[in-house]
Parts: sequence; C-alpha cells; structure tokens
Amino acid sequence: MNDNLVIRHATVADMPGIRALLKKYHRDTISDKDRPGGFVTTAITDEQLTDLIEKENGVMIIVRPQAAPSPDEVLAFCFAAPWEFWKSWPLFAYMIEILPEYEFEGKNVVVEDTYQYGPICVDTSIRGTGAFADLFYASLKDFKDRFPVMITFVNSINGRSENAHNNKAHMQTIGTFDFNDNHYLMMAIRTDHEK
Ligand SMILES: CC(C)(COP(=O)(O)OP(=O)(O)OC[C@H]1O[C@@H](n2cnc3c(N)ncnc32)[C@H](O)[C@@H]1OP(=O)(O)O)[C@@H](O)C(=O)NCCC(=O)NCCS
Repeated sequence: MNDNLVIRHATVADMPGIRALLKKYHRDTISDKDRPGGFVTTAITDEQLTDLIEKENGVMIIVRPQAAPSPDEVLAFCFAAPWEFWKSWPLFAYMIEILPEYEFEGKNVVVEDTYQYGPICVDTSIRGTGAFADLFYASLKDFKDRFPVMITFVNSINGRSENAHNNKAHMQTIGTFDFNDNHYLMMAIRTDHEK
C-alpha cells in the first residue's frame, strides 16, 4: 500500500466519506464502467452506521490524511461486527440460521464463535496495490481476541472479490447458499491467520 495512506478505525466524522464510497460502489448506484470490478449489496442506514462505528468499533478505513479542517479522504472501508449486530438484515438472519450446517477445519461452525466481516470496498485508485490485504488483515487482527473464526459471503458473480478473498486474504470457501435469487459463497478464516 502507498506510504502516504493510513489504516485506522473510523469515527462518525468519517461517515460522509464512507457514504460517498458506498454510493460509488453499491449495486444500485455504481457506474457501468465500475460494475465489472465488483459491487457492494449491503445497505446501511445512518443510525446503523453510527452504531457500527461507535458501539461496535467495527469500521476500519484507509485514508489519505488531509490538513485540518478538511476531513481525511476515505479510500477504502471494511465493516465487521458480531452476528447480534447484523441479525436485523434478512440475508444475515438467514446466514445465522444455516451456519451450523457448514464445516470449517473439520468442525461444524458455532455461530457464537464467529462474527461477520463485510462489506469491504476499495476505491479503484488504490486497487491492486496491496491495500485490500492490508485492510483485511487489520480488521481480522482487530477481532482476534474476541472470536476465533470470521465468516463472510461473496456473491458468485463478483469474480474480483472472490479472487481477492481466496488468493489475497487466504479465506476458505466452506460452501454455497442461495438467497433472493443470488448465489453466494460462504467463506471462513481463523482470526489468528497471519498475512
Ligand atoms: C473486492 C475488492 C475489495 C478487492 O480489492 P482489490 O484491490 O481490487 O483486490 P486485488 O487487486 O488485490 O485482488 C483482486 C484480484 O482479482 C483479479 N481480478 C480482477 N478482475 C477479476 C474478475 N472479473 N474475476 C476474477 N478475478 C479478477 C485481479 O487481477 C487481482 O488478481 P491479481 O493481483 O492476481 O492480478 C475491490 O475490488 C472492490 O472494492 N470492489 C468493489 C466492491 C466489492 O466488490 N466489494 C466486495 C463485496 S464482497
């Protein structure tokens, strides 16, 4: 990752920058030019995002620092939180229901031992620079003392994200599932996995 960039937890002051990035790469608002590079499907209200930042400390970002009073430029974000936080989203409620049917490292997944990471979003200007893996592992390390295993999902049509999570993050695909006419990969990794 470029030396001028910094990885840190987000504060509510970063919300406009996070919102702008989310809008740029959300399935419903992404440009046709950017769509082949993948998109985010999770929607989040301001209230939920505030709780994720303030109560869960669950948003890591990559910023280009700016001199005050300008806000830092947000170039990437990554969300992560216990299932309790995510359970009001229908997709996550479904994942909680089916998780015990999946095996990771020879044992059935225990919901209470895992948390959900994602979405992650990296601006096109810093893709392919190692920023993805740096942010991924910063978030993973952040949850290491709380959970032994992290779980996420990737839409099977998002080839770039699947490739990044397999080959750069070293996550394992533990199965697949369907929800609302979409086909997803269920992925897992130990939180003590080293980059
Ligand atoms: C997914 C994302 C976070 C990955 O970060 P990144 O910086 O692009 O990841 P990297 O470049 O390190 O790795 C992606 C790999 O996939 C490859 N790739 C690119 N397009 C691809 C495609 N259509 N299918 C498969 N692989 C693809 C890249 O070439 C790269 O591999 P390489 O380094 O061996 O060449 C980023 O692309 C992104 O934010 N996309 C938009 C939002 C999104 O999809 N988020 C994930 C939702 S789960």
